[in-house]
Amino acid sequence: MELFPSLDPIPLPAPVWLFKALHSLTLALHFVSVHFLVGGLALAIVWAFLGRARKDSTLLNASGLVVHRLPIVMTYVINLGVPPLLFTQVLYGRALYTSTVLIGVWWISVIAMLIISYSFLYIMSVRADAGKASGWAGLIALIVVLKIGFIYTNNMTLMLRPEVWVSMYRESPYGLQLANGDPTIMPRWLFMMLGSVGVTGIALAFLSMKKDLDAPVSQFLRIWGGRLLAAFTIVQILLGVWVLRSQPDAVRSGLFSGAFYPVLIGVWVVTAVAVAVVGALIAVRGFRGWTVPSSVSAFAIVNIAAMVLVRDGIRDIALASKGFDVWAQPVVTNWGTVIVFVLCLVLALAVMGWLISVVARAKPVSERYA
Ligand code: HEM
Repeated sequence: MELFPSLDPIPLPAPVWLFKALHSLTLALHFVSVHFLVGGLALAIVWAFLGRARKDSTLLNASGLVVHRLPIVMTYVINLGVPPLLFTQVLYGRALYTSTVLIGVWWISVIAMLIISYSFLYIMSVRADAGKASGWAGLIALIVVLKIGFIYTNNMTLMLRPEVWVSMYRESPYGLQLANGDPTIMPRWLFMMLGSVGVTGIALAFLSMKKDLDAPVSQFLRIWGGRLLAAFTIVQILLGVWVLRSQPDAVRSGLFSGAFYPVLIGVWVVTAVAVAVVGALIAVRGFRGWTVPSSVSAFAIVNIAAMVLVRDGIRDIALASKGFDVWAQPVVTNWGTVIVFVLCLVLALAVMGWLISVVARAKPVSERYA
């Protein structure tokens, strides 16, 4: 029996490789933003609670500094999530639409959850400004954000299991099912969520360079940035091993059958170790100037890019083993549209670059939260 719904009669309007390249680029950027949001929020909450309990102004200032940036990070999470969603739908619609319908209520509720978490980020930030207890507001936002991540992981793994779709639908057609016994869900979700704390260490290192910070706050951000980077990158390496081990046999043997994915996995491990080592050095010795944070960012970018490509391989191999070859879809390239699209993309990137340069040149605002 054919497991997937029949192919859309309209061919793809651009080559598969182009969609895949754009998908990987934008998804990597989405993941960077997700990491900063989840990790930053978790730290801001812990520091807000501890800061009030110990009446420690350094902790409260560090928490306020981080939480003030999170509503902006959230805009990046959302805006950088839309393009990969569109590309995934184009390439894998037959699988993704089906899994989305099966968890439909959860999926559509993501919009409400985003609004709720966004609101509580602002509440936390405003309360930190006023020197009021803010941790509880952050905690609500974090729980909702973690749930959104869980829903995404559920959908991205359910789309790889066409063999369970019919039985799930027969069991309940109301779109309320989630976490259906797939052993890959938990490692994937933990990999993304706990890994976030490590990546946030890089943001803390840059934040510590902000002019006009009190010396103890700057030093605190630097030391903790390094410690978290080292500790949670090691946690993420272990979770990465769990993600690979939890894959079905066909996926694991597919990944290791050629040279491409083993090389990518190797790049991922080497860059993760490099990130952890630099993190440990930052924690012990601190740093001056841009060289250390810039080089650890470069390692992290390569690391995330390798992870995105391996993740893509897991999907392609899993689907191919069940009869869906993403490369075998009819393509009739509409080059006019492709060129207009690329021009718009370049223009949008230039505008973003200009906006970032305006922000970089803006007069620094002094921030005190305690
Ligand atoms: C707080 C908000 C969000 C969080 C915490 C979050 C988290 C995640 C996580 C953990 C994954 C990886 C799932 C996996 O494969 O295991 C993911 C994938 C993804 N997210 Fe987000 N996300 C958020 C918001 C969004 C939004 C608003 C969009 C789009 C409008 C979006 C689009 C995507 C897409 C398209 C993927 C996977 C694409 C693919 O596999 O091809 N995300 N997200």
